[in-house]
Amino acid sequence: MSQPVLFAANWKMHVAPGEARSYLDRFLALDAPRVGRSVAFFPPAVSLETVASRLHDHDHLSAGAQDVHWEAKGAFTGALSVPLVRESGAAAALIGHSERRHVFGETDAETALKVAAVLAGGLQAILCVGETLTQREGGETDAVVARQLRAALAGVAPDADLVIAYEPVWAIGTGKNATPEDAAAAHAGIRVVLGEFGLPTSTRVLYGGSVNQGNVAALLAQPGIDGVLVGGASLDPDGWAAICATIRP
Ligand code: 13P
Repeated sequence: MSQPVLFAANWKMHVAPGEARSYLDRFLALDAPRVGRSVAFFPPAVSLETVASRLHDHDHLSAGAQDVHWEAKGAFTGALSVPLVRESGAAAALIGHSERRHVFGETDAETALKVAAVLAGGLQAILCVGETLTQREGGETDAVVARQLRAALAGVAPDADLVIAYEPVWAIGTGKNATPEDAAAAHAGIRVVLGEFGLPTSTRVLYGGSVNQGNVAALLAQPGIDGVLVGGASLDPDGWAAICATIRP
């Protein structure tokens, strides 16, 4: 059976606990649960427990962390471990988001350690990959994405709870999204690399980068796009509920 289409909201450094409560009151009033779709929220760490506890009784709705450290505990000021976010109610973690890679300088090697820690800790890992504009213009998209994947996928078991998110860096927060066809082509390349590691073709691959109410249906209509990872357009509960109501053809 195919896995549910995943609508993932990355709130980045927005939505404090009080705002999260009123957001979710509104979202839950608007959202109609349906089979074959799940929705995940990635709030900032201070709001994680609030969001997770509010969603606890709603099947197909979950909360996750935006990043984790690979060590389980220790002197890592400012960092969060898998056990800590798990106890706060996280079911998943984003790993290797482009802002972690390009703003905070996270390396492929660190991303690999984080994916391993998340999976070993019993959470779903959503591994984010994507090329910069210079890399795209240099024709390096497939090579960059393959390198990011290969660095993180060695040792990942075929039954791992793994999702890939393809987020071209130039499309994030810019209003420029990849065309559905370009996104689908990148997704096809991602599946080739997943195959190299014996990972199943049913592994979900999401698209992220300036997804909004106007383009989500065309993106989800592409074969191989199994959901979306959304930043700005997930910050308004009405708009996000409308995006999550999109039916994949
Ligand atoms: P935007 O939807 O704001 O472009 O952000 C995408 C993103 O980075 C989601 O992780």
